Amino acid sequence: MSIRYNDLQGPKGSFFFGNLFQFSLATLHQYLEQHAHTYGDVFKIRMGPGRFTVVSSPEIVQQILKARPYSFRRMRKMDRILRQEGVHGLFNAEGDDWKVHRRIVNKGLNLKHQKQYFASILKSVDRLYRKMNHAAQNNQPYAVQEDLKRFTVDVTTSLAFGFEMNTLEQKGGVIQEHMEKIFPMIFKRINAPLPLYRIFKTQDDREYDRAFKEIEKQVEVYIESGKQRLQEEPDRREQPRDILEALLAASEEEKAISNKEIKGNLLTLLLAGEDTTAHSLAWALFWFCQYPEVQSKLQNEADELLGNDKYLKSYDAHDVLSYTSAVIHETLRLKSVAPLLLLEPIEDIEMSGYFFEKGAKMILLTRYGALHEDYFSESKAFLPDRWMEKTESRCPVHNLTAIMPFGAGPRMCPGKHLALLEMKLVLSMIARNFNVELITSPDSIQENLAFTMMPDTFTLKLTPRKEPLNHPSNPQ
Ligand code: HEM
Repeated sequence: MSIRYNDLQGPKGSFFFGNLFQFSLATLHQYLEQHAHTYGDVFKIRMGPGRFTVVSSPEIVQQILKARPYSFRRMRKMDRILRQEGVHGLFNAEGDDWKVHRRIVNKGLNLKHQKQYFASILKSVDRLYRKMNHAAQNNQPYAVQEDLKRFTVDVTTSLAFGFEMNTLEQKGGVIQEHMEKIFPMIFKRINAPLPLYRIFKTQDDREYDRAFKEIEKQVEVYIESGKQRLQEEPDRREQPRDILEALLAASEEEKAISNKEIKGNLLTLLLAGEDTTAHSLAWALFWFCQYPEVQSKLQNEADELLGNDKYLKSYDAHDVLSYTSAVIHETLRLKSVAPLLLLEPIEDIEMSGYFFEKGAKMILLTRYGALHEDYFSESKAFLPDRWMEKTESRCPVHNLTAIMPFGAGPRMCPGKHLALLEMKLVLSMIARNFNVELITSPDSIQENLAFTMMPDTFTLKLTPRKEPLNHPSNPQ
């Protein structure tokens, strides 16, 4: 007999509120990860009337993620909240509808496309370098997280929408300021036991509505510019140069995508590509500063590959950054910015001895296994060497089942390769040009979940590095 919701164990809560007041939303993931130690693979919690099944076993999480799009879907409540704001795109599409969106977005984010857009990504890397160098030359404390978000938005808009935003060189009033209001409120609404915002709007609710309107206006500008390109060069319908052009062509020819869905996908890509990559980079820098030996290994690798260049100039060279990649993988293991995913079964389903009822709210802990000794030895330690192919310090237990920073199965993040490329370019640029120290006390930098999991705000001290003296192009 399989185990049903009522048979599951879970932390005790109060009669009315359940476990609602035992955690703050910003640390929900940690609260659940702690309880997974006690209650095992599958357990339950309650937030007011909301009953949640929590899955911590990486094997079961993988099984569920792979059973999409027909047996499981993203949580319906999340879809409702996103649609209220006009977001109907790849992230919240389901079933056959999802397949159409996925095919178009995949085309635009594939490796071939990335290579074609490499030069435009480098423009944003150059702008980021110049801002960092300005802070370093003037000995100014540098609040890096703001600029990382500007960088990721600039890359997404140029690669996916063919539009050069250059928010990195704009002062204030940029789109990021509006985007910052979106994720925390979506997360708050998803977890709110009652939709009180429908009856009474707080100041935060009004700011959220305003932020969405502003972003929508910006998205309309992208769409107009895409339509103009197709009008001026009709052959782009056959050979779209970016996701926007592919969406516009699909809407004209196949009628498979409506105008609303074009807008929804642009909003989705803006939101999905910004925070995730910027926060992952911020966490990598956090570790970078904690371990001088890691910083110096990254610098050696960057010196060797970049020589006198400020950043990587050739697309193919990014594959050679093996230590930089190891630092990125270790960062994503320990500080996965999406430590939980919200799903529900589309039908009653039995899996690994559990019965999941159609429509049950489920929280999948996608980071828990990666922090567990059963899957990674010295699981709590930051050890990039465990990811190096040929190293004596590769840890004995290294189980990839538990690694899911980009999700798993058919809905795994389509922006994974772009995100990894952005991270390699930025980290190698920083390693090549600067010594980096944290000004903010590391103990005060905590994990903060607001849909994505970010570090608290921190400030860096950047010191310009000397040219690499031992490089062949640098004779003494
Ligand atoms: C380090 C950076 C990133 C991380 C950690 C990340 C993580 C994730 C995760 C965990 C999911 C859910 C996967 C699942 O349900 O199995 C996801 C979905 C998605 N991501 Fe990313 N992501 C990153 C960067 C990006 C970028 C750069 C883009 C595009 C510009 C992007 C676009 C998307 C989209 C459109 C989806 C929805 C896919 C679907 O439902 O089929 N992501 N991402």
